[in-house]
Amino acid sequence: MPTPTARIRGTERSSIRVMFDLAERLDRDLVRLEVGEPDFDTPDHVIDAAAEAAHGGATHYTSNAGIPDLRRAISDTLSDRFGVEHPPEEVVVTVGGMEALLLTTLATVSADEELLVPGPTWPNYETQATLADAEFHEVPMPAETGFDLDADRVIDAMSDDTAAVVLTTPSNPTGRVFDRDACRAVVEAAADHDAYVIADEVYLALTYEGPNEGIASYTGQPDHVVTIGSCSKTYAMTGWRLGWLAADGHLVDEIVPARESTTACASSVAQHAALAALTGPQEPFNEMCRAFEDRRDLVVDRVAGIDGLSCPRPEGAFYAFLDPGIDDDALSIAKYLAREHGVVLAPGDGFGDTAPGRLRLSFANSAERLHEGFDRIEAGLAGY
Ligand SMILES: Cc1ncc(COP(=O)(O)O)c(C=O)c1O
Repeated sequence: MPTPTARIRGTERSSIRVMFDLAERLDRDLVRLEVGEPDFDTPDHVIDAAAEAAHGGATHYTSNAGIPDLRRAISDTLSDRFGVEHPPEEVVVTVGGMEALLLTTLATVSADEELLVPGPTWPNYETQATLADAEFHEVPMPAETGFDLDADRVIDAMSDDTAAVVLTTPSNPTGRVFDRDACRAVVEAAADHDAYVIADEVYLALTYEGPNEGIASYTGQPDHVVTIGSCSKTYAMTGWRLGWLAADGHLVDEIVPARESTTACASSVAQHAALAALTGPQEPFNEMCRAFEDRRDLVVDRVAGIDGLSCPRPEGAFYAFLDPGIDDDALSIAKYLAREHGVVLAPGDGFGDTAPGRLRLSFANSAERLHEGFDRIEAGLAGY
């Protein structure tokens, strides 16, 4: 039999997926706190707009870069809410932030060049580097500062092979909002190396310590930043698969024609849904964000009340990166908590090599279920 290519075979099954599959098999009441998506439904006005668009004939291919109204709405949102300036022609609508990240990696990192990412990190960047035949380099951030971005560590790790650095802020898995000066320093160093910073800002609207601005808004080198966004987390629209990238025109001009041969365009109906989400009433989304903030406070309180347990204070997104204070591997602890105590968490080793003994908890769940989950974690850790 012909052998599948090394780039596909190199794709590892993450321990997060192992936990997901285990949870599906377990025949007991589970509190599922491993899932990285909002527990809210897409608001009605978004669904109605999509249905209306479909009935009105918006069921065909769109231009590769997306429908003009949506590109303009994304451009306006980036400017009005996050201070990031790109005209609509520099925005590409994609199939989720995921496709935006893959296209950007393919466009900025050549085979055998390096994609550099501060750890702990969302695992998909490594897979995408593998698909691009590129090298992946995780640079550990210090646990003492709650894994905040340490610019010196990143800059020291850069070399002439570094083609792009990913900065994920707010972070998945830690919920940290990276220090602005540190982000600025990394962009400047990237520019010195003729490299890009890929600003993965899919959680940018979900911050709890005041409004946040995109990295491209406060650096002197915005041409070296590719901004990635998505409707998934902000608008409870994970299943619509709608995201975007915004970048300097000369990069976008190369990405758009290449994109004809990947997905061609994002779903036409989903693009109309996204347009309604961005330009319609914002109250449902603001309400969701307030609910996440309340849950963040709940999580911080409960963690503080459990002996030996700690986590960096989540400043954004909906994750807490728990340190159970136990000297064992995270997958074993996670399996034990699921099987014996019915609470499912994502093992920290699924987020790179930086913090293997941690567990990621998603607080995209009701306050009642979160309390139940913490009761189970408390009982479980006491008996480990
Ligand atoms: C850090 C980060 N970036 C990007 C994505 C991609 O999300 P989507 O493709 O749903 O927009 C996710 C999803 O979990 C994420 O956590």
